[in-house]
Amino acid sequence: MTTEQPLLTPVSLGRYTLPNRLVMAPLTRNRAGEGNVPQAIHATYYAQRAGAGLIVSEATQVSPQGVGYPATPGIHSEAQVEGWKPVTEAVHAKGGRIFLQLWHVGRISHPSLQPDGALPVAPSAIQPKGEAATYTGSQPFVTPRALELSEIPGIVASYRKAAENALAAGFDGVEVHSANGYLLDQFLQDGTNHRTDEYGGSIENRARLVFEVLDAVVDVWGSDRVGIRLSPSGTFNDMYDSNPKALFTYVIERLNNYNLAYLHLIEPRVGEDAGNPAHQEALGLTTAYFRTIYNGTIVAASGYTQESGNEAIAQGHADLVAYGRLYISNPDLAERFRLNAPLNPYDRSTFYGGDERGYTDYPILETQAA
Ligand code: PHB
Repeated sequence: MTTEQPLLTPVSLGRYTLPNRLVMAPLTRNRAGEGNVPQAIHATYYAQRAGAGLIVSEATQVSPQGVGYPATPGIHSEAQVEGWKPVTEAVHAKGGRIFLQLWHVGRISHPSLQPDGALPVAPSAIQPKGEAATYTGSQPFVTPRALELSEIPGIVASYRKAAENALAAGFDGVEVHSANGYLLDQFLQDGTNHRTDEYGGSIENRARLVFEVLDAVVDVWGSDRVGIRLSPSGTFNDMYDSNPKALFTYVIERLNNYNLAYLHLIEPRVGEDAGNPAHQEALGLTTAYFRTIYNGTIVAASGYTQESGNEAIAQGHADLVAYGRLYISNPDLAERFRLNAPLNPYDRSTFYGGDERGYTDYPILETQAA
């Protein structure tokens, strides 16, 4: 290389200085053990990817009610905290940094995954189209139960407790998952939030829970070790808002009041608008737009390549770029970018569930004698 690739330059993120601008995206891999506890292979998997500037863990439940898929990890039980410790230690031993992603799926669940077979909860009793992934295969989503106003402080408390547990488990920070049609996103968007109390109706009311959760988590970690993930143009998990530009402009402008480690924006990838830049453009929901209203660090995600990632940073649209599928199959992705080396193809059939195959067995580049 004659000129350095923007992705491979250092960047400050909250209180950290990262050696490069590659983020390993949060990726559901469904390999947690009994009790939704991370296993020894999780430590191997994440440590293999410690060359990323930052790792964001797979989405991790803040409470038993927050579960929506088989074999996804949690951060609410003591066994889970103990299960995560070897993961953070292994990443740190390799010189990496890892944030935990805090997750409550809301209505994207099924009674068979819920404590006592209860109904999943949501802002409103609106059944998502589609099917839940359960231990016995796909089953139609049910109509969730609308959370009582009196239950909302308990939801905020579960995020606070999970944030404390993440600190105890040795993470470097946390990311609040407010994207992709899960609980916080369900509150934000008016397709899923029909409430008539102070958590519904106006944009300010719909955003109330997100900011209450953010305040609780920031209280535990300090704002400079907290990120938040949003998907302003996403339709995954049957999401809809009547005016997403007004909604997400409000939320993101208000995030300027925090000194967050970063804002993580997903451009369409999952769902029917997958990878369609025209759709984002039409809605005016591009990262380039949000850049004009957000003062802090932006991580962009959505099927970026080495080339388009470098370009996004060079153009100033994003400060860092998250890679998902490429990190699944290329544990040494930053090194491969540095060398402009070929990438391993990924095997989609081993993304969700299974064992070390397709998880910890993707090869790193052979060390070449110079
Ligand atoms: C998934 O498990 O399919 C999943 C989890 C978290 C996301 C998106 C998809 O943000």
